[in-house]
Amino acid sequence: MDTNECAVLKLFVIGVLVNAWMLRGLSATDSFNMEPTPPRPRKVCNESRLQWEMEGCGESFKQDMAHIDPQYWCNLTHFISEYHFFTLCTEKRSHEVNCYWPNPLVESYIIRIHKHFFSNCTMEQVVWVDPPDDTLTILILIPVFLTLAMIALVVWCSKRSDILA
Ligand SMILES: *[C@@H]1O[C@H](CO)[C@@H](O)[C@H](O)[C@H]1NC(C)=O
Ligand SMILES: *[C@@H]1O[C@H](CO)[C@@H](O)[C@H](O)[C@H]1NC(C)=O
Ligand SMILES: *[C@@H]1O[C@H](CO)[C@@H](O)[C@H](O)[C@H]1NC(C)=O
Repeated sequence: MDTNECAVLKLFVIGVLVNAWMLRGLSATDSFNMEPTPPRPRKVCNESRLQWEMEGCGESFKQDMAHIDPQYWCNLTHFISEYHFFTLCTEKRSHEVNCYWPNPLVESYIIRIHKHFFSNCTMEQVVWVDPPDDTLTILILIPVFLTLAMIALVVWCSKRSDILA
């Protein structure tokens, strides 16, 4: 692969990342925030505050779920918007306290919420709840891998152009 192809590939990967991020941004927040998550937050992630913020998201989710008849708690159709809102809440507040999203603390909190609400759900009742942590992990890992792939590509491409130059 020559340097030109490298450049095109880089642009493509950046395009994919920007798109993914913009789509998330658009659906995520009322205020469209043009700042992408910085690769290294300038301020340090305050974990105790993050924990506190997650409890807040969890509380809202619990209140939302309380409006839903517990017999429907295993039916994703009935709480998808509440769940979506909860996920957005964790993301927004993580950024507010200068933490990456997702991060291990948020993940373990989400898993705790899952255990609380969906522990009694069986496979027949809801397909995705039995391996919720796996599904979640995959969803969470996609952007992480995309980022890693881009970094690897940039490094590799710059090495190539060093050799070629
Ligand atoms: C983190 O947040 C807590 C609660 O808001 C605060 O008391 C604490 O001083 C903060 N720690 C740092 C290192 O900023
Ligand atoms: C799950 O079942 C147990 C035992 O029947 C019950 O105590 C608990 O409240 C149930 N949890 C949920 C989230 O429905
Ligand atoms: C979930 O709820 C929707 C809408 O009420 C219903 O059509 C669907 O059959 C339910 N699914 C299960 C697995 O109970």
